[in-house]
Amino acid sequence: MGRRGLRLRRMAILIDETKRVLVQGITGREGQARTRLMLDYGTKVVGGVTPGKGGGEVFGLPVFNSCGDAVAALGGVDVSVLFVPAAGIKAAAIDALEAGIGLVVLVADRVPVWDAMAIAKAAKKAGARFLGPNTLGIASPGKAVVGMIGGRAESAREWFKPPLPGGTGVGIISRSGGMSSSTAYYLGQAGVRISSIVHVGGDAVLGVRVAEVAQMFEADPATDAIVLFGEIGGSQEEELAALMAAKKITKPVAAYIGGKAATAGTRFSHAGAIIEGNKGTHAGKVAALRGAGAVVADSFGDLPGAVAGMLRTSRNGGPSLSLMSEAERKAVWTTAITRIAPNTVAVRGRNIADLMGNVSFGAAVHLILTGRMPDAAVGRLMDAILVSSIDHGATPPSCLAARTVASTGASLSQSVAAGISSINRHHGGAIEDCARYLAGLMKSAKDAGRSIDEVAAEEVARIKASGDRISGFGHRVHTKDPRTARLFELAAAAGVGESKGGATTHVEAARAVERAFAAIGKPLPINVDGAIGAILSDLGLDPRVFNGIFMIARTPGLVAHVVEEQTREKPMRRIDPVNHAYDGPLGV
Ligand SMILES: CC(C)(COP(=O)(O)OP(=O)(O)OC[C@H]1O[C@@H](n2cnc3c(N)ncnc32)[C@H](O)[C@@H]1OP(=O)(O)O)[C@@H](O)C(=O)NCCC(=O)NCCS
Repeated sequence: MGRRGLRLRRMAILIDETKRVLVQGITGREGQARTRLMLDYGTKVVGGVTPGKGGGEVFGLPVFNSCGDAVAALGGVDVSVLFVPAAGIKAAAIDALEAGIGLVVLVADRVPVWDAMAIAKAAKKAGARFLGPNTLGIASPGKAVVGMIGGRAESAREWFKPPLPGGTGVGIISRSGGMSSSTAYYLGQAGVRISSIVHVGGDAVLGVRVAEVAQMFEADPATDAIVLFGEIGGSQEEELAALMAAKKITKPVAAYIGGKAATAGTRFSHAGAIIEGNKGTHAGKVAALRGAGAVVADSFGDLPGAVAGMLRTSRNGGPSLSLMSEAERKAVWTTAITRIAPNTVAVRGRNIADLMGNVSFGAAVHLILTGRMPDAAVGRLMDAILVSSIDHGATPPSCLAARTVASTGASLSQSVAAGISSINRHHGGAIEDCARYLAGLMKSAKDAGRSIDEVAAEEVARIKASGDRISGFGHRVHTKDPRTARLFELAAAAGVGESKGGATTHVEAARAVERAFAAIGKPLPINVDGAIGAILSDLGLDPRVFNGIFMIARTPGLVAHVVEEQTREKPMRRIDPVNHAYDGPLGV
């Protein structure tokens, strides 16, 4: 299931969180506002283009004079979205297509038909796609938004319900901008999850059409049904019906067709929504879709219920994964850590019974903190990190605090909590401090284009002059900490800390600092906290959990000390913080 699960998780059509997006017209009014919203939602916007404004920045993103310049500087770009007014669309779209961008999204309305036709020709030549003109864009809920769908990021998150990781949603295709968001919103209210929303645009000449989007949804494993908001005019609904009849679309389709009341010759809101003669009529479209097996709702208000009904019995019998359970629908907040259902406990999507006996505790800690299951070598390394910090005798503040509280007659939980409460910035905090310190050195080296050894040497000279201390180096007891060497050995075995692709790692940065100290005749080796900080950073864990990992590791030690205090010692004894001796088995 592992590989398949991972593959499914990335699915959506046209855009997702990995796609690199360029914004043309990024310096304009709408370009700036929408870039902020796209970034807030999680879209990977990598830069922008406005002719004549190259060299500038918008929200820290570089602005270029042309798409060619942008691609040359940024590397591959997957999608470009144009917040450029109609008059400039043709030039801007051709600029993007000639730069090799595979999908171009044209937001502007009132684009001349002949310009749209010229763009279509250029797209064909480039082997690329364009969406629009006059489109609100695309949203893949939980992943990315390109264009203007959903407004503020918080609203978009609340309105559009994403598929569960590895699960499915319905794909929405709309011929109306406003109704693309409304359809997604009302489906969400009815408990329907959504894989992607695509507004094909309202013009007569369009790039990607309804039928093409439907075929993308057909091929998308994260989509298990298709919902269409259609309109009178044109033949897009009929094209979809033909694909269904030819069994090229086999996923269930539900639709609503707007414009029932419009008579021949009336334009229904959009340029493309016009009945000409007896073609493109409401009745004709409904009949074609129903004839091909689609569920067509008579009123828009009936559409969400019709879709939910369709999903209640999916192709494999039970309810589709696109349909939320009652509990999910009523939920006012969500958690992504553990799923509890009758007879199911799944941690980060993994059945707990399968984890038991098969993965180490260290691997499970990595899984619950990151959502990623580590390989066996990294699991062993996580175990080693936890074991390395399990106890350090009776003198650390956490142990003294736990024993002191235990001696007052406090319970086990109160006493252990007292110990945990003393794990802070100055006790256990060196792990995080050292990790951030090393990251700072790495950034300085990268920004200045210098080697990590040069930066470390300069830093060590500064420390010597100022008398500052750095977290994670040196130890008050050990000169050659037995835990550090072992951790680095296990890290090397797991391939952690080795530079890949030329970028310095935290472990390498730590080594550079050690070398710099040795070079001034003041050897100050990295200690166990520093080693853990460097290794956890290279594993890609968030530094905010580092103190927590130390708490997890130290808890067994604290429990042992509290129980020993409660069973061996007199209540309210005066605990000497230094003068005590070990009387357990000698071992080593
Ligand atoms: C596209 C649209 C949103 C732009 O509006 P806007 O942001 O108010 O326009 P602005 O003039 O502020 O910004 C446009 C920017 O594009 C830039 N531009 C012009 N030609 C360009 C090109 N070839 N490449 C890149 N940028 C270009 C302009 O220089 C301008 O930036 P500047 O202000 O820094 O000079 C607007 O014209 C429009 O069509 N609105 C309707 C959209 C709509 O409803 N779509 C359908 C949804 S259903």
